[in-house]
Amino acid sequence: MTSFILQTNEFESIIIEKAQGTWIWDVDGKAYLDGESGMWCCNLGHNHPKMIQALKNQAELIIHRNKNFLTPITLESAKKLLDFVPNDFDRVTFLNSGSEAMEFAINFAKKATGRTKVLTLLDSYIGAFGSAKDLSFTSTKDLELKVPYPKCNTGECEHLEKYTSVVDREFEKHSADLACFVLEPVMVSGGVFKSCSKLIKYICEKIQDIGGLIVIDEVTTGFGRTGFKFGYELFNIIPDVVVLGKALGNGYPVSAVITNSELESKISKSELYYAQSHQLDPLGAAVVSSVIDIFKGEQILENAKEKII
Ligand SMILES: Cc1ncc(COP(=O)(O)O)c(C=O)c1O
Repeated sequence: MTSFILQTNEFESIIIEKAQGTWIWDVDGKAYLDGESGMWCCNLGHNHPKMIQALKNQAELIIHRNKNFLTPITLESAKKLLDFVPNDFDRVTFLNSGSEAMEFAINFAKKATGRTKVLTLLDSYIGAFGSAKDLSFTSTKDLELKVPYPKCNTGECEHLEKYTSVVDREFEKHSADLACFVLEPVMVSGGVFKSCSKLIKYICEKIQDIGGLIVIDEVTTGFGRTGFKFGYELFNIIPDVVVLGKALGNGYPVSAVITNSELESKISKSELYYAQSHQLDPLGAAVVSSVIDIFKGEQILENAKEKII
């Protein structure tokens, strides 16, 4: 039967039927411990009962609507998410995947600054398609900034000394065109490494000094993965755009782009226009709302902090 599936990647031979918490079961009833939380999505565990209840409740009301209408749950979740994220953000949209949200965020940054170039670190993973893919280690395209991901788990490293001149040179060359610095706060797909806080802070200060934006890719690091709510809290920086995915939906496909009204006002209505069928859908919004409630109610962050090594 698996031969009917387009072989977009290699599939295991076991077929998974159900999941609960950290466990998954195959069709023969054999249990497996899911050490990867699906695709690193189920920070609250698979099929959290409160999330399932929220899905059921919302599904009975309305799953989907025309893009020109909003629903109460979308408004409630948007406000809840903005209150949940540190710093003063006041604008959010809900999309479907991390890649889509990263793509949206990069284009948003380009439009808000009127510039075209994007900096990121070599070996980051930002997305599966479009310019997000172009910035990822999976692409063969050349990046503007030739700084290797400054892996540093100890806080004791020489990345700043080593790369200051490289960073300075790249800024000298591209300053006028630089829209944003896109940062995956902890490298994940390329191997799990924290980055050098001093170098990251240096690049972030430089980009904001020249009027560019900091776009943070929290698709994997968000919701307690680093012991903080969000990975960018490791660096003492204030981003302009924050992108969430994966754990935001705890396995349900919903993502978010968070920013502020000041940046929004720099983009004309026609340029800001973006519409796809499931943007801001109520079912995804209901999931977001329940994920935040569970995250806070079950003190996931406090527990993660206790367990971090
Ligand atoms: C850091 C990071 N950004 C973006 C993405 C893309 O998210 P998605 O797979 O939901 O499109 C991923 C996926 O693994 C990721 O790890």
